[in-house]
Amino acid sequence: MTTMTTMTTMEPIFFIHLTDIHISVPGKKPLFDLEMSHKLRAACAEIRTLETKPSFVVISGDLTHDGDLEDYRFLKKLLDEEEALLGIPIHVALGNHDFREPFREGYLEEEPSNESYYYSFMANGLRIVMLNTQVPGTHGGRLDEVQLAWLKGLLAEPAPSGTIIVHHHPVMGTPTVIMDDHLLENPQDLENVIEGSDVIGLLSGHIHYHNVGTLRGILCAAADGLAFGLDPSASSNMRFIDRSGYNLITVKNGQMSVQPMTLPGEQRLLYELNVTKIHAEA
Ligand SMILES: [Fe+2]
Ligand SMILES: [Fe+2]
Repeated sequence: MTTMTTMTTMEPIFFIHLTDIHISVPGKKPLFDLEMSHKLRAACAEIRTLETKPSFVVISGDLTHDGDLEDYRFLKKLLDEEEALLGIPIHVALGNHDFREPFREGYLEEEPSNESYYYSFMANGLRIVMLNTQVPGTHGGRLDEVQLAWLKGLLAEPAPSGTIIVHHHPVMGTPTVIMDDHLLENPQDLENVIEGSDVIGLLSGHIHYHNVGTLRGILCAAADGLAFGLDPSASSNMRFIDRSGYNLITVKNGQMSVQPMTLPGEQRLLYELNVTKIHAEA
């Protein structure tokens, strides 16, 4: 019986990490005249062709671009359809482009409130924690004390195959100063909570390009944006690229591995923003 349990928990677990889908109702197109729902549908179509079927999908925030009620109602319909086609659940976290009240009303279909949104779920012995790093009214990212205390309590009990944390704002440095301004403001607090726990990986987004680092030896991977990409080699400009990526995540023997994926496309430059000039004028 013990052997059977061990075998079960040691089986590889495979799932999908999407981020920054920036969905709007069809026809609204607030970004570069792109229909972001088409990007999500294209990614899900590609995922359906994978030879190994994933167990679930996580989306690490910036679910909508404007955060309007009608955007969340459309997102709910869109993800319900894709869940049915994929045959696996899709779990979401919030980002800086999301707003709690319309999210709760339009997506969760409950009474609107400003209550934060974080939770955990189990899949084949692996625990996934969906955190909320958004700070209402800002684009910054921070984990408040209430959420950190909740996380500490949760991690007091280890999961059979370890824990992966999903959150919007990354914790590790990037190649450009511009994007380092977008990191989680209090990574030390998160580090203190996960130290000595069963956490084996952190998955984030927000910077719209692939980035890998470690926090106390724990693998941290930011996925490319699905709605659009940014150019990580641009040091003073934000270069918006028509590029869509996501990550395949495998957990095997208590270790997390990350396989970056990029959807087919010409990766044309959509828009270039001179951030240095904006900062100088501010
Ligand atoms: Fe984003
Ligand atoms: Fe973001």
